[in-house]
Amino acid sequence: MIVCSCMRISDRDIHAAIAWMRASDPQTLITPGKVYRALGKAPDCGGCVRLFVAEMRRSHLLEVPAEPHVPRKAEPALAEVPSVLRGLRARAAQDA
Ligand code: FES
Repeated sequence: MIVCSCMRISDRDIHAAIAWMRASDPQTLITPGKVYRALGKAPDCGGCVRLFVAEMRRSHLLEVPAEPHVPRKAEPALAEVPSVLRGLRARAAQDA
């Protein structure tokens, strides 16, 4: 589902960006602005803000965990930029 029509950001893009940020830094505060930047974009009209934030709140990874996160052996690969984000950034660079 498209959440931000100006920047063509879907609910999947938002959840992928949140998962990537949480895997990269377990203690980071994830804001809408950080999600846009992770996707290589910036908001335009702002008409999607309520829906954008509501979609972010659906993610179980949005909250900073109370306990310090100790990465397991299998998790370091998650810290790499997922292919969906690389594709979105490339598409954004082409649109610019
Ligand atoms: S719809 Fe998201 S910035 Fe316009």
